[in-house]
Amino acid sequence: MQLTFHSSLGESRIWLGRQAGESIAAALAEFPGPRLLLTESRVARAQGHFQEQVMDRVDLQRLVLPEGEGAKNSANLLTVLGEMAELGLERGSPLLAWGGGMVGDLGGLAASLWKRGVPFCCVPTSLLAMVDAAVGGKTAINFGGQRNSVGSFWPARAIWIDLDSLATLRPEDWSSGFGELLKAAWLQDDEWARQLERQPAELLRADHPDLPAHVERALRFKLEIVEQDEREAGCRMLLNLGHTFAHALEALRGEELKHGHAVLLGMLAAARTARLAGVADAATADMMEDRLRGVLLELGLLPAPALAELAVPVILARMAQDKKVSAGRLRLVLPVRPGEARLETVTLPLLERALTDWGGLLT
Ligand code: GLY
Repeated sequence: MQLTFHSSLGESRIWLGRQAGESIAAALAEFPGPRLLLTESRVARAQGHFQEQVMDRVDLQRLVLPEGEGAKNSANLLTVLGEMAELGLERGSPLLAWGGGMVGDLGGLAASLWKRGVPFCCVPTSLLAMVDAAVGGKTAINFGGQRNSVGSFWPARAIWIDLDSLATLRPEDWSSGFGELLKAAWLQDDEWARQLERQPAELLRADHPDLPAHVERALRFKLEIVEQDEREAGCRMLLNLGHTFAHALEALRGEELKHGHAVLLGMLAAARTARLAGVADAATADMMEDRLRGVLLELGLLPAPALAELAVPVILARMAQDKKVSAGRLRLVLPVRPGEARLETVTLPLLERALTDWGGLLT
C-alpha cells in the first residue's frame, strides 16, 4: 500500500507492507549517485541480508553507526557528514537511513545540512519509528545534555515501512513502540485506544493480523496532523501528550528508560495533572489512570519504585528545561478523556502536586 503526503519540500511517498527491498532499490535508482546508506550495528547484523539485497541492485555505500540513543551525538553527526563529503554526495543524491529512531533522527539532520539539504529517505525498523519518529520531518541529535536540542525540519522524500523488519525487534522496543501507538489513539479515538489496551502483550508481534491496521491508522493520523502543521505552531503540539514528563524522566534515567515507556508514564502524569487542573473530571481521571496503570502493569513497567523515588523538584527542574517556563507556568498537553486532549497552562505548584501524586501511582 502506498500513501502520499505533502510537506514544504513537496510530495513524499510512504510504502507500507512486507519485503520492501525491490521497491527501495527501484526508488533509489531514480536518484543520481553516489548514495549513502546509514544504519546501526544491531540492524546491520539483524537485517544485513535485506540491505545487501538492495545494495546488489543499486550502488549504495553503507556506513554503520553504533546502536542506541547515546549514539545520537555531534561526533556521529560529523562522522556522517565526513562520509558524505568523502563520497562526494551531490545536491540530488540521497541519504537512506535504515534503522530505529536514532538513525532516522541523526540521518535526517545530516541530510538537511549537507549542501544545504539532500533528499532524505528512510526505512524505519522499530515500531516507534514506524508510527511516529520517521514521519513528520523532525530531525535531531542530543546536545548540551539535552535531548533533541539540535535539529531541523527535513521531511523524508520516501519512507518504507516493512513490517517484516519488526521480526527481530527486542521485547522492550516492542512495548516502547506501543507507547507511541497508544498515545496516537488517546489523541484520536477512544474505541481505538480500547482495542489496543485489550491486547497489548498479544498484539506485539510482527505477524499479528491486526498490527498492519494499527500501524496504518497511526500513520494516517500523524500525516493528517503534520500536513496541517508541519512546524508545530498549532495542532502538532498535541502529539506531545505525555512528552514533557517523558523527556524529563529520560534525561534523569538515561538509556535504561525507553522513550515509549517514558511516554506511557508521562501520560499517567498528564492524567493526574488534568484532574488537578480541572481539565478532566474526577470520574474520568480515575478511569484514565486505571486504564494507563493497567497497560503499564501488563507491559511489566509497574511497579517502578526507582522512578517513584525521584525527587519531585528534580523532575520539575528538568521539565522546565524541556519546555519554557514563563512566569512560573508551564504549557502542557493534557487529556480531557481518551480520544481528546488539549493544551493547558498549569502553575508549578499544581504540577508539583501532580508529580507527588504520580509517584504514589507507580508502586
Ligand atoms: N513526535 C511528535 C512529533 O513528531 O511531533
